[in-house]
Amino acid sequence: MKIALLASGTGSNVEAILQAHEEKQFDAEPAFVFSDRPNASVLDKAKRYGVPVHTLRPRDFDSKQQYEEALLHLLEKYDIQWVILAGYMRLLGATIVEPYARRIVNIHPSLLPEFPGLDAVGQALNAGAEETGVTIHYVDAGMDTGEVIRQKRVPIMPGETNGSLEEKIKQVEHQLYPETLQNLFRKGF
Ligand code: GAR
Repeated sequence: MKIALLASGTGSNVEAILQAHEEKQFDAEPAFVFSDRPNASVLDKAKRYGVPVHTLRPRDFDSKQQYEEALLHLLEKYDIQWVILAGYMRLLGATIVEPYARRIVNIHPSLLPEFPGLDAVGQALNAGAEETGVTIHYVDAGMDTGEVIRQKRVPIMPGETNGSLEEKIKQVEHQLYPETLQNLFRKGF
């Protein structure tokens, strides 16, 4: 079972998956890490684990469709069965979503459908919420709208800052994402 990991930034969730794989807690094979940002530090993390990396810059293409066709070509070349988004900060279009229907998974730092889109952590703080959380969900053509696979609550304490809440959420993500994906691939739920 081959998976591709798509990320735009730091890649702490990618690292958690690669670490679980190294510790034999994760059966699927991370075939490559892809980023839309050639300078993203996720790429250094992937290299440390000996995982191939690929980058494509959307602005080097005439359209989103052409960019995604190039990405699809990569996915097909590696015979990828599941596409795993981990901080990939672009909305996937039909070029990828249709051929990989119910084979794309995303992690989002809120209890969807609350606080979709960008800066979900800041949104929760600004709303004065007493709790937020993590959602792992299938990806459809909408913004964070696909069917929920798993959620976990994270309480927001008085005096919580953006940094402290993000840290708490990431700690939950790093445990929940590899574990949930492992179950998903094994049981196909
Ligand atoms: C994670 O918290 C992830 O849930 C979030 O980006 C962060 C990436 O961190 N994703 C989204 O907000 C998607 N809408 P990482 O690069 O350290 O894994």
